[in-house]
Amino acid sequence: MPRRVTRQETEQVQACPVPEIDLSRVAEVLEEVDSRAGLITVLQRLQAIYGYLPEVVVDEVSRRSGVAASRIYGIITFYAQFTTEPSGRYKISVCQGTACHVAGAPLIIDAFEEAIGVTCGCTSEDGLFTLEGVNCVGACALAPVVRVGEDETHGRMTPDAARDLVADLRTREVEE
Ligand code: FES
Repeated sequence: MPRRVTRQETEQVQACPVPEIDLSRVAEVLEEVDSRAGLITVLQRLQAIYGYLPEVVVDEVSRRSGVAASRIYGIITFYAQFTTEPSGRYKISVCQGTACHVAGAPLIIDAFEEAIGVTCGCTSEDGLFTLEGVNCVGACALAPVVRVGEDETHGRMTPDAARDLVADLRTREVEE
C-alpha cells in the first residue's frame, strides 16, 4: 500500500515560488524621491512596493543611481526595518500553539494554502501574501487564532472565514 506523504515532507520538496518583480517601479521611485531625501527613503518606498528588497532591485537601484551595491547593502543590513527575504504585503500568521492546533489550526492552514495558492512558509508569486505558522500568540481563548500583520487578530477562525479573509484582503488591495 502506498505510504501517505505528510505535510512536513511535502513542504520539504516544494520550493517557495519566487515573487514577480516589476523593475520599472525602481525608476519611478528614483524619479519621485527628491535626491536630498536620500537612499533610505528610496529603499523604504521600494520595500513598501515589493514587500522586501530583492537582489535584482538592489542591482537596479545601483545601476540607475550610480551608488555601489555594497553601499546599498550596508544600509539594508544596518537598519532593522529592511529585509532581503521575500515578505508579502499581508503576512498571515496562523497560530500553531496547542490550543489552536486542537481547535483546528491545520484545517485553517489548508484553507489559506488553497485560497492563496501557496504552501505555508512561502510568499505568493504576486507578492501579496506570506503564509506562516507561529507559536502561541497569547489569545488561546479565541482559538484558532490568525493574525494579519502586527495589528489585526482574528479569533475562532474557520476554513470558510479564512477563505473570506483572503478575498477581503484582495479587495482591500484593489481599493487602496
Ligand atoms: S495556542 Fe494559539 S493563541 Fe495560544
